[in-house]
This record gives sequence, C-alpha cells and structure tokens, in this order.
Amino acid sequence: MKAGAFDYIHKPVNVDELDLAIKKALKSLEMEKKIDGLLIEPSRNFRVGDIIGTGNEMREIFKTIGTVSKSRTTVLIQGESGTGKELIAKVIHNNTSSDEPFIAVNCSAIVETLLESELFGHEKGSFTGAVARKLGKFELARFGTVFLDEISEMSVNLQAKLLRVLQEMEFERVGGKDRVKVNARIMAATNKDLKLMVKEGKFRDDLYYRLNIVAINLPPLRSRRQDIPPLIDYLLSKINLDLHKKIIGVSGEMMEKFMSYAWPGNIRELENLLVRACVVAKGQVLGVGDFPELGKDSQPIGAQADQTTEVFKPEEPGKFLTLDQVEERYIRKIIKETDKNKGEICETLGISRPTFERKLEKYGISFERE
Ligand SMILES: Nc1ncnc2c1ncn2[C@@H]1O[C@H](COP(=O)(O)OP(=O)(O)OP(=O)(O)O)[C@@H](O)[C@H]1O
Ligand SMILES: [Mg+2]
Repeated sequence: MKAGAFDYIHKPVNVDELDLAIKKALKSLEMEKKIDGLLIEPSRNFRVGDIIGTGNEMREIFKTIGTVSKSRTTVLIQGESGTGKELIAKVIHNNTSSDEPFIAVNCSAIVETLLESELFGHEKGSFTGAVARKLGKFELARFGTVFLDEISEMSVNLQAKLLRVLQEMEFERVGGKDRVKVNARIMAATNKDLKLMVKEGKFRDDLYYRLNIVAINLPPLRSRRQDIPPLIDYLLSKINLDLHKKIIGVSGEMMEKFMSYAWPGNIRELENLLVRACVVAKGQVLGVGDFPELGKDSQPIGAQADQTTEVFKPEEPGKFLTLDQVEERYIRKIIKETDKNKGEICETLGISRPTFERKLEKYGISFERE
C-alpha cells in the first residue's frame, strides 16, 4: 500500500469485491485526471431522471433546472457534501450543451499559482517550466461548462481575477497579452455558506453576486426523508447493474433505521453504505446485519441527531439535570465542537461578554479563544 497500491483483496477472491476495487481504482485515476484537467467528459448520460426528488423543495429545483437549461446563465449550487451538487451541474450542462465539454475544477485541490494557469492557461516561457503554451480550462471548455467546485476555497487574489473574467468574459493567459474570449458557461459549487463568508470578509461580495445569478440550494437528506425509499430503489438498481447483483431492497427494520438516521454525508453516504452492503450481502434483501457501520454498539444510528440530547442525559435514568448543569454542559459543548471565539460564542448564546466571562468562572471552564 505504501508503494502506491490502491487496495488489497483477501484470498479466496470474491469477484464482487475485486470488481469494486477495480472500479474504485479507475475512479480515483479518473479523479486524478480530472484534477489535471485531462479528462473532458462527455456528460451525455446525466439526465433529469437521474435526480431523485419529491417534495416541494426538490420540485422547485427541477423547475430551476428547466429554466437555466434554456439559457447559459451562471449558476451557484450550494448544499452540504454529498447532496448532489455535481450531479445537478452535469444535468444542467447536459440539457444545455451536451456536445461540448464539461470541465470540473476543484478549487481546493490545487495550489493558487497552479490553479491560475489551470484556469487561464499560460504562454510559453511565462514561468520556469512553462516550456510550451498551455490552454486553460476556460478555453478548453469551448461552449461547454467550467464547473468551479469548492469555490469558497479560492484565494482572494484569484477571486479578483475570476471576477474580471465574469465581468468582461475575456481574459489573458498567464504571461500573455492576447485577449481570449470566454464562451463557456460557468457554474460554481460550495458546501460552505458563501453569504456568511462574504459577511465575514472571506469571500468577495461582488464575485458572490456575479456567481449567484441563479442559486440552487440543495436540501440535506435529513430534511427530505420521504426521498430515502425512492433513492434506495434507484441506487440499488444502479448498484445491481454494476455488481451483477439482484438485491431487491432493504428490510423494514433497516428502512426504519434509515428513516431516522441523520445522514451527515447525505446521498453519497447512502450510496456508499448500499454499495458496501451489496458486496457482502448473502440474501436479496439487505438487513440490519448487512450494515455493520450502523450497528448497535459502534455508531448508533441517528447519533448525529441525538448528540445534543446526549449531552443533557442525566447520570441516572429517571433523574433530571439542574438548569446550571444544562448551562454548563451546553457551553462546554459549543467550545468543544466549534472553533468559535469568545465574541462569536456570546453572539450565538445571545449574552454579553461579561456575562459569558462570569459563567466561565462559575463553572471553572478555562477557555482562551479570543
Ligand atoms: N437526487 C439524487 N438522486 C440520485 N442520486 C443522487 C442525487 N443526489 C446525489 N446523488 C448521487 O450521490 C452521489 C454524490 O453526489 P455529488 O457528487 O453530485 O454530490 P456533491 O454535492 O457534489 O458532493 P461533495 O460536496 O461531496 O462533492 C453521486 O453518486 C450522485 O449521483
Ligand atoms: Mg462534489
């Protein structure tokens, strides 16, 4: 593994496991290429039908996808990780310009200087190592899409450059003078609260408004639980095809657990759990035993949702905590689980600085994050 193997498999070889390992290896190669920008995907195979969603919020999103697919406006897609941001971008792209390239650029995976030349390209000799002219993503995308993933991680310097591109729809290659026209459509995605970052001065407001021409905010899976059963059906049929399996569903008991789980990793987490369960499953119905990660002792299902109540659990069942105990535990929880400083915590708790200091002293909490 240290020498760079992707994975290892125990003997005797389980064909499904092998199949999965190979797929994973191919996928990670693909990701590498994607980062290098070598992979220009034909994204014909992403259709609205691949987006499972019922309920009002998703219905609105389908409407928006329909509208933006008729134009080439910039779209900002926000949502927690695994909620389907890239999927939505590909579907929009596919509806608008399926014959053109869809190029994803992960803004957090590449160092600033490299990212600049990745996006805008460079002229021969513009820096040591620039032995030939290289075209950037904005050029390579032609009339397709440049998908700026994790846009929140873009440096302030590049934010300024991107803003200019969006305003003028033209740019210069690094080290060059020629003006190059941008024909590509730009979409951006983030799992951060970009508006909050603007407020905190971490993201340019003018760029935010340029990107946020049309916003799509994907709801987390836990707020659209009615989608869990249809998603399971959809994902299982995909997995069955991939793994040559005939899994027909999950047991009633398992479904109940799924319905109450917090899904911090959203649909990606659901997909990963199902894939792993399908690989090892003996029967055609996935039961509690097929999801050891969600077993009783390791990580109780719904742990995330219950964390808050967990803190307030009295030592003995049937007893209750005093208000002081609740207050103390709550303060400790915030300190431990966030990286907020004193001022931010006061704001969250709705108390003044002196009050907060008094409480720290009262409960003997030493806390110095200024
Ligand atoms: N509504 C949906 N219906 C069906 N499959 C979905 C849906 N949303 C997401 N998926 C699937 O879940 C997986 C994760 O989606 P995607 O990569 O688009 O999420 P993301 O928001 O970009 O995640 P991250 O923030 O981790 O990059 C993909 O395999 C995708 O096809
Ligand atoms: Mg993504």
